[in-house]
Amino acid sequence: MNNKNLILAIETSCDDTSIALVDNTGFVLAQFSASQDDKHRVFGGIVPEIASRNHTIAVLPLVENVFRESGKNWANISGIAVTSRPGLLGSLLVGVMTAKMLALVNKIPFVGVNHLEGHLLAPFLRDAKTSPPEGFGFPFLGLVVSGGHTTIYEALEFGKYKAIGATLDDAAGEAFDKFAIKVGLGFPGGAKVDTAAKSGHVDAFNFPRALTQKGNLNFSFSGLKTFAQDFLNKMPEKERDLRLNDLCASFQEAIVDQLINKLKFAQEKTKLKQVIISGGVSANSRLRFKAKEWADAAGLLLVLPPMRYCTDNAAMIGYVGMRRLALGLASPQSLGPSARSFEGDFC
Ligand code: KG4
Ligand code: ZN
Repeated sequence: MNNKNLILAIETSCDDTSIALVDNTGFVLAQFSASQDDKHRVFGGIVPEIASRNHTIAVLPLVENVFRESGKNWANISGIAVTSRPGLLGSLLVGVMTAKMLALVNKIPFVGVNHLEGHLLAPFLRDAKTSPPEGFGFPFLGLVVSGGHTTIYEALEFGKYKAIGATLDDAAGEAFDKFAIKVGLGFPGGAKVDTAAKSGHVDAFNFPRALTQKGNLNFSFSGLKTFAQDFLNKMPEKERDLRLNDLCASFQEAIVDQLINKLKFAQEKTKLKQVIISGGVSANSRLRFKAKEWADAAGLLLVLPPMRYCTDNAAMIGYVGMRRLALGLASPQSLGPSARSFEGDFC
């Protein structure tokens, strides 16, 4: 029981502080996260300075939590994985400095991980309740869709990922969040739009779809966002409230249509038979339903990780870090946080 085979993982790239313990097979022994939604809600978006300050407060108590929950201690930790890029610089700084300090004190290696690689490899995580479907592995097609990202990757092998399509403007989650504020559902509103949409009609209103040309793998949501804002501005407030469910269903359908269509184009191009969707927006029930419908009809293996590994979480960072450290790819103490991915993270 006293094996030194665990990775302590730290994720602080945006507003969620998350700590996890992952073993050398990708099994998650414990994960604790602290949400800051209550702190940012009043501003209608994430305030970077408030996010970093709250990471500083939350991070070490969460480390204590994972040790208490798992019954493990520092003697069991062989290395530390931390999100070092991309993200909010001040937020990343808290995680990176914490990782370096803990690695130094405990005389163990640490590795900086790309947050998007974490999202992409989340389907490999296992715990008492979940494991990837039998036979799942590289190569696969991956859609990472969150509040900050909407990108399709060809995941060829560990460490080799090709970005084959990305948003030209807003991320899908951002579009959900802006719409939610406009219709009075508050921030962050993606999940609330999803809930309201369940009792609405998807074709009640006609919201535009962008970049529909066959084979175009890029996304665009800013036109939809502006259209929706203008549309709502012209609608009497009373009608807007009465038709809230229809508005949510129709708006959501425009986003989901675009995501599914681009996945279809990407699958036709790459011929890959395995598809994963990860990131906060993959919680969307309509997206999950339409993706499953498409995958079943096309004979594809679709993997949707459980929500605890889809939204921002440390376990996915631990998985990537575990694999990198096993290859001897520790980071130097001079590694700093970076708001952007490194050249070479993706090809
Ligand atoms: O991955 P994530 O936790 O954080 C990053 O943005 O990196 O994703 C958060 C995003 C927010 O935009 C939120 O509104 C959206 O995911 N989201 C959803 C749903 N649940 C969360 N969007 C649509 N439907 C949902 N059910
Ligand atoms: Zn994320």
